[in-house]
Amino acid sequence: MEAAAAATTTNKAPSMADPEDDFDLSRLLNHRPRINVERQRSFDDRSLGDLYLSAMDGRSGGYMDSYDTMYSPGGGLRSLSGTPASSTRHSFEPYPLVFEAWEALRRSLVCFRGQPLGTIAAVDHSAGEVLNYDQVFVRDFVPSALAFLMNGEPEIVKNFLLKTLLLQGWEKRIDRFKLGEGAMPASFKVLKDPKRGVDTLSADFGESAIGRVAPADSGFWWIILLRAYTKSTGDLTLAETPECQKGIRLIMNQCLAEGFDTFPTLLCADGCCMIDRRMGVYGYPIEIQALFFMALRCALLLLKPEGEGNKDTVERIVTRLHALSYHMRAYFWLDFQQLNVIYRFKTEEYSHTAVNKFNVIPESIPDWLLDFMPSKGGYFVGNVSPARMDFRWFALGNCVAILASLATPDQAAAIMDLIEERWEDLVGEMPLKICYPAIEGHEWQSVTGCDPKNTRWSYHNGGSWPVLLWLLTAACIKTGRLKIARRAIDLAEARLAKDSWPEYYDGKLGRYVGKQARKHQTWSIAGYLVAKMMLEDPSHLGMISLEEDKAMNPVLKRSASWTV
Ligand code: GLC
Repeated sequence: MEAAAAATTTNKAPSMADPEDDFDLSRLLNHRPRINVERQRSFDDRSLGDLYLSAMDGRSGGYMDSYDTMYSPGGGLRSLSGTPASSTRHSFEPYPLVFEAWEALRRSLVCFRGQPLGTIAAVDHSAGEVLNYDQVFVRDFVPSALAFLMNGEPEIVKNFLLKTLLLQGWEKRIDRFKLGEGAMPASFKVLKDPKRGVDTLSADFGESAIGRVAPADSGFWWIILLRAYTKSTGDLTLAETPECQKGIRLIMNQCLAEGFDTFPTLLCADGCCMIDRRMGVYGYPIEIQALFFMALRCALLLLKPEGEGNKDTVERIVTRLHALSYHMRAYFWLDFQQLNVIYRFKTEEYSHTAVNKFNVIPESIPDWLLDFMPSKGGYFVGNVSPARMDFRWFALGNCVAILASLATPDQAAAIMDLIEERWEDLVGEMPLKICYPAIEGHEWQSVTGCDPKNTRWSYHNGGSWPVLLWLLTAACIKTGRLKIARRAIDLAEARLAKDSWPEYYDGKLGRYVGKQARKHQTWSIAGYLVAKMMLEDPSHLGMISLEEDKAMNPVLKRSASWTV
C-alpha cells in the first residue's frame, strides 16, 4: 500500500509502542530452544526420503550432488542439506546471483532497539537517490523470514513474531469504529528518534491504507510463519508461551465468529490481501480461503490442547476445517469436466436437490475460459458466491491450496498440469502471473473503478510477480514437478538482477518491467532465494507445507485431471 508510509507518521498516540511494551522480547529470546521436540507427531510431515526421491527426477547423477553448500554474506557458510559444511570440500563457488540477493536482502533489514526486526518493502538506490519503501509488511516479510530460517538464522523471525504480536494488542480504530482484537497489521514502521535515542513503532491496520481496508491475510501469515519457525527450529517454547497461544486464539476468534454466513468460507472486502486494491476480489477470494485453511491447520498444530480456552477453539477449528475443505473441493474446483457441467447448468433451481446450488448462469462463463481450459488440468476458481463465479485463475491461492493440502493429491497434480499446459499464459517470460486473464475495457472500468495502476496486464491485473516464484517452487516440490520449478527459476535468473529485482512485470508475457514497479523490491529478492534454497534442499519444504489429513477424506472421487 503505497500511501501507508506517508500516513503512518501521523498516527495517533494509541498506535505508538511504549518502551515498556518490550516485556517479552528479551525474556523469550533468552529461552533455550527445545530442539526437535514434537507434539503428537503433529509436525511429522512427508518423509524426507520421499522428497529426496522426487527431487532426483530427470537429472543425471541426482541434483542433490550438484552442490551442497552455498555462501550467504553475513550468514556465513551454510549447508543447504542441513549438515555442517564439509571442510574437505571446497568445491563450492559462491553463486554470484545468490550472493547478490543475500546482500540485497540484508540491506533491507531494519533494527528495533538494536535487534533486527524485519525487512522493509524495498531498498531502492538505483536512481542515485534513496527511494526506500520503509514499511515492514507482514505478508512481504514471509519470504524473507523463510530465507532466514532456511539459512539457520531464526532470531530475526522470532523478533518479528513477538513484535507483531505486541502490535496485535494495540487498540485499533478507524474513525469511531474499533477493529476486532485479533487483527494484525498490514505493515509497521520503525521510527527512530535520535534526540531521545529511542525507537518506536507505528503500525497500519487499515486505518492508513489506501481504501481503508484491513488485511485479512496478516493474521493467517503470522500463524503460518509461527509454525514454520517452530518446525524449522524445533523450538516449541515460543509457540507455547501464553502470549502466542492467546494471539492464535484471538485470530481464530475473529475468523471463526458466527454471523449470517451460509458458507464456511470467509467473507472479505476487496483488497484485503496481496491484491490490496479494488480488483473484484471481494466476497470469498481464493487467496484468503487457502490461507484461512492453512492457518486453521497450523493453529491446530500449535495450540496446546490443555491450554486455557484452547479446547473450545480447537473444536471450532476442526469443525470448520471439515466444512471448508468440503466446500472448496466441491464448489471452487474447476476442470474440463466440471466446466462442461456448469455449461449445461439449469438455473432457478430451488430446494436441497439443486445441482446448480449458487444459481450460476451459464452465460456468465467468459469466452476466454472455453479456450483456456485444457482437457488435462484444473484449478480453484477465484471466487464463488450467489450467481457469481469469478473464473479467473489466481496464483497465490492455488499454490497455497497445494501446500496446505486443501487440494487433494489429484487436484494438486491437476493444478500443476494446468500451469504446464498454459505456460505461455501463466508464466510467459517472467514467473508468475498474479492472476489470469487481465480485465479490460468496460469490465476494467466497473470492476477496478478505473484504477490507472491496474490497467490490463499490469500490477494486480494480470501482472507478473517474481515473489510468487517461491510459492510455485514449493508447490512443484510438493507435487514432484521439479522440472517446472527449474524452468521458472531459469527464467527469473535471466532477468531479475539485471532489471534490479522489480516488484512486478507487465504485459501478456510479463516481458516489461512494470510501469510503476519499485526496484529492489525485497520480496522479489527473498522469493528468489527461497526458491533456490528449497530446490537445493527440498527438505526445507516441510516448514511451509502440510500433508493431507486423512481425516479430511477427499470429498470428490472424480479425477481432477480429466483426460480425453
Ligand atoms: C503492494 C502489494 C502488496 C504488498 C505491498 C508492499 O501494495 O499489492 O501485496 O504487500 O505492495 O510490497
